[in-house]
Order: sequence, then C-alpha cells, then structure tokens
Amino acid sequence: MNELRNYFEHNEKRLINKFDHYFDVYDRYFSQFKNKKITVVEIGVYQGGSLQMWRQYFGKEATIWGIDIDPRCKTLEEENTHILIGSQEDPQFLRSIIDQIGPIDVLIDDGGHTQNQQIVSFQELYQHMNPDGGIYLCEDVHTSYMNVYGGGHQRDNTFIEFSKLMVDQLNAHYSEQSSLAVDAITKTTNTIHFYDSIVVFEKKRMTPPSSKMTGAWSFTYDTSKKTFIEKLKFHFLVKLNKVLQSLKLKGIFINEILRLSSKG
Ligand SMILES: C[S@@+](CC[C@H](N)C(=O)[O-])C[C@H]1O[C@@H](n2cnc3c(N)ncnc32)[C@H](O)[C@@H]1O
Repeated sequence: MNELRNYFEHNEKRLINKFDHYFDVYDRYFSQFKNKKITVVEIGVYQGGSLQMWRQYFGKEATIWGIDIDPRCKTLEEENTHILIGSQEDPQFLRSIIDQIGPIDVLIDDGGHTQNQQIVSFQELYQHMNPDGGIYLCEDVHTSYMNVYGGGHQRDNTFIEFSKLMVDQLNAHYSEQSSLAVDAITKTTNTIHFYDSIVVFEKKRMTPPSSKMTGAWSFTYDTSKKTFIEKLKFHFLVKLNKVLQSLKLKGIFINEILRLSSKG
C-alpha cells in the first residue's frame, strides 16, 4: 500500500483532510525526496495533521514549513517543523518569509483554494523552488470550476486557465507570434502535469531545444522536378495560413510532401 495512504488510513495523531486520489500523485513525485535534507512547504496547516504526515514520510532530515492565515496554527509547531502566519494571497508577506525558508524542494498548496490565492502564491514562490527538480504541487484546483471560489468553466483568471497559459510558456521557443515569448517559466520548467484536482510543475534548468538528424536517408526529395506552380501553391498556402492564424481561424493543411519538396 502507498505509504502516505497507509499513514492517513491509520492516523491517530492530528486531523488530516485529503482526497484519497491525491496519495498516488504525492508518492509519484515525492518519493525521490524521502530521507533527504530538503525543504518542504505546505500552504494550509488547518489542524496540523498533514505536517505530521509529511514529517513521517520525508524523514528527520527534512525541514518543514507550514503557512496559514489562522494564528492558532502557530501552536502546532514541532521539531524542525515551523509555522508562519500570514496570507498566501499577500505578496509582501510571501516576500518577507522567503529568505528565511530558502530554496524550496517541495511545495504543496493546500490553502484557501481561491483563484487569486493559488495564482499569487505560484507567482511569488515558484521562482524560489530548487531549480534542479523542485516540485510545485497545487491541489484542490477543482475550485477553478466552482463559483464560490471564483471559478467557472473557462472563466478568466482561474488557476486552471492560468496553468493552461503555462503550457504555452513551456512551448514558447516555437512561437512565431510576439504574444508568446520565452520567459522564466520556459527556462525553468521541465513538465506540467494535470490530474483530477491537482496540477504539478516540475523545475529544471532548460536549454533551448535542439533538433538534429542521424542515420542515412532512405530516399531523397528531388526539388528540381517540382513545377513552378507547385512551389507557388506552397508559398501561397504558407501566406494564407499566416492570415488565418492572425484571425485565429483554423489553418489549411499543407501536404507534407509538398512542404518538404518545396524547400528548394
Ligand atoms: C484545506 S485546509 C488545509 C488542510 C491541511 N493541509 C490538511 O491536509 O489537513 C486549508 C487551510 O488554509 C488556510 N487558509 C485559508 N486562507 C488562507 C490564506 N489566505 N493564506 C494562508 N492560509 C489560508 C485555512 O486557515 C486552513 O487552515
């Protein structure tokens, strides 16, 4: 059985509040950090139970930080488990604590779950994650679909819509439009994984993509045999696709053979 689920199922210590399907996702990303000297941050302390679960799971070497708006949570501190009181939606507060915390290896956002809280926390803290494999996990993102949390299907400024924009950033090197340019997310993000209610961002120092060919040609493309009309057709389709792109209309498929053979 998954160690975290096992802990949760038999928990007799402080109260924990988690969805059952989260445990497999946690274990998939977090098991690499077990018994290492790492820094874990969880936004949302509640009754302190999840901090105790992380302690058991990550081991004694981990430094664990809880962040909560409720001042009563301060009393739940334990050895090498620190609790900071403030709002995850307050950039000034987050900036004021980051030096103390240092680079973060694992961040779990289980705080208030409103769109602005999740987005502000990401904007302030993602840049302070360990650039070599840090894991930022935002949970309960189903609130992106719930009106009471500021959500709604494809509503502007939900965490899910924000995360979809991050997918664009992941691919920004290929953009032909000024509206999408390489930025810090492009340069520092390896993967973004979407699950039921969870989005996981994995950090890595990225290098610009490089493509090359290896091996021998099986057959070649004789561009000299292409007629003037075929080349003209290709260039016309390229131009037409640019116009369609600017109007955000569906593109016209350019036959791959025509594309390859019209390069000359
Ligand atoms: C879902 S509970 C956390 C559950 C806990 N992580 C667990 O697994 O048992 C959410 C917590 O977020 C806190 N919270 C709500 N709004 C917040 C905010 N703006 N900043 C920080 N914490 C907030 C609440 O006080 C509450 O303790």
